[in-house]
Amino acid sequence: MSDMSARTTIVVGASRGLGHGIAVAFAEAGAPVIAVSRTTTEFPEPSNGAGSIRTETTDAGAATVPASLIDRYEPSTVVLVAGATPHMRPLQEQTWETFSVNWETDVRITFHWLREVLLKPLRPGSRVVVISSGAVLGGSPLSGGYAGAKATQRYITGYAQDEANRAGLDITFTTVLPRFAPMTGVGLPAVQAYAARAGRPVEDFVNRIGPLLTPELAGTAMVDLVRTGAAEVAAGYELNGAGLRKLS
Ligand SMILES: NC(=O)c1ccc[n+]([C@@H]2O[C@H](COP(=O)([O-])OP(=O)(O)OC[C@H]3O[C@@H](n4cnc5c(N)ncnc54)[C@H](OP(=O)(O)O)[C@@H]3O)[C@@H](O)[C@H]2O)c1
Repeated sequence: MSDMSARTTIVVGASRGLGHGIAVAFAEAGAPVIAVSRTTTEFPEPSNGAGSIRTETTDAGAATVPASLIDRYEPSTVVLVAGATPHMRPLQEQTWETFSVNWETDVRITFHWLREVLLKPLRPGSRVVVISSGAVLGGSPLSGGYAGAKATQRYITGYAQDEANRAGLDITFTTVLPRFAPMTGVGLPAVQAYAARAGRPVEDFVNRIGPLLTPELAGTAMVDLVRTGAAEVAAGYELNGAGLRKLS
């Protein structure tokens, strides 16, 4: 799958952070990219002139948006990155509204989009990648319902794969669990909160994390993942600055 020019790619949550890096990387790889977010942003022109980025400014969690964008663009690849920044406070300082913010955004978006991918359905050979979180593997005690919401994204991505298999759709669903990317909208408040709890300066905390994830590295990893043959792709991967690691 080295030629991406026929693989229209919708990146949901592309105005900044990891999603921005992922949209840029797919365009650089030659794909026509549809970059979805509620606010507009600038994208660099792909340097090789092959790919392109078109923006769609809309709320990806609105019930009618996935059907409308999937009908209009007929993507072969959908990457769901969009998510809310959790309220970084211990449990007793959460309200139900702050606790559930990632359920109302991340899970809602994943639910609506996966459902539409199956209903349409996307054409055989299509790929769907859902960005969950490494918090799924160990919890995230300072971010309310975040880890549970990200775990639910992983579960329903698996449910979607089962339904696609049962219907013989030949669509591959993958969940990716990133570790800290400390310069983005979700990552920065998280490292600040966990550094404060550990009583360490943010820089010291960040230096101990290991190879750091950046939007550019996330973009390269997602392009590599989609270029990997479906038969070799695992259901889930952890992602950090060193790249993807298959989860068993
Ligand atoms: N950064 C990390 O350390 C880290 C670690 C693990 C997992 N993750 C996951 O990776 C994803 C990206 O994180 P990030 O740090 O890059 O986030 P970010 O910098 O805050 O960017 C979030 C993106 O999602 C979009 N978005 C949010 N709600 C949306 C909606 N309703 N409709 C359309 N777009 C929407 C935002 O655009 P608009 O505001 O313009 O709509 C923005 O482009 C999230 O799912 C997060 O949970 C991040």
